[in-house]
Amino acid sequence: MDKIKFVKADIADRKAVFELFETENPDVVVNFAAESHVDRSIENPEVFLVTNILGTQVLMDACRKYGIQRYHQVSTDEVYGDLPLDRPDLFFTEETPIHTSSPYSASKASADLLVQAYNRTFGLPATISRCSNNYGPYHFPEKLIPLMIANALNNKSLPVYGNGLNVRDWLYVEDHCKAIDLIIHKGKVGEVYNIGGHNEKTNIDIVKTILKILDKPESLITYVTDRKGHDMRYAIDPTKIHTELGWLPETMFADGIVKTVNWYLENKSWWEKIISGEYTKYYEEMYGNREELK
Ligand code: DAU
Repeated sequence: MDKIKFVKADIADRKAVFELFETENPDVVVNFAAESHVDRSIENPEVFLVTNILGTQVLMDACRKYGIQRYHQVSTDEVYGDLPLDRPDLFFTEETPIHTSSPYSASKASADLLVQAYNRTFGLPATISRCSNNYGPYHFPEKLIPLMIANALNNKSLPVYGNGLNVRDWLYVEDHCKAIDLIIHKGKVGEVYNIGGHNEKTNIDIVKTILKILDKPESLITYVTDRKGHDMRYAIDPTKIHTELGWLPETMFADGIVKTVNWYLENKSWWEKIISGEYTKYYEEMYGNREELK
């Protein structure tokens, strides 16, 4: 732990970022920082553009000024848009065209294009990774899995958007981190790497699995108005990172989801503090007006 220093600052704050580079002189910069929740981007796109696009530019400008060995951009499979449910043979490869659906994914795709431009124009030694849905400890309770765990534990209804048949490709967070570590050390500058473990599940399957682990009734499930522009299916083809860097996910979903539920059971004070504060207002705004679908 003594190797970690946490500095709270906004990546779009040029002065703060440049000062940090001046004092810390980093050799590798990994940009995990983002406004990441699709629903919030539908309510208020602007902050997504500022943090995800301008923030990325500020970080890369600092890298150019102070010099670094590697800049890595943590991106998302959402830049590829979605796949139809009736074509299970289709997967996102690194060559799949960018085709975004939400202000969030558009902002992440814009950042990816900027990273590629800084690599080509200024020779910034950059790599990009595009990962599928993560799950695991410390996942902010606005996201599907922690939200459903918290609501189930509080015997609150579980709001499933639309018919619950949208598909996401789930990856345990530590497997994502290991992939990023590999890319930083062995990945080729200028390249994009997709990260995912062929673990597609419908939302309703995820919700039912959580209820089963917690021994809670399925009557808690409520189908509500769908997300606007809701992507149907994400599915990563991880061939490149597997064949070139030898990466494979280590945590099976059946184990990872039990570990995750247990983490939320053992760390109630962490998420209870979050859902009782500012988040209450967010929850009311996001879910208060959603119609229940019969
Ligand atoms: O694919 C990678 C992306 O995964 C990341 O780039 C994003 O930052 C991350 O938020 C996640 O995006 P999703 O929109 O897929 O995740 P979310 O947890 O918001 O939703 C997962 C699915 O569950 C999606 O189909 C919407 C649905 N959902 C979500 C919530 C919060 C519900 O049915 N009810 C809900 O209350």
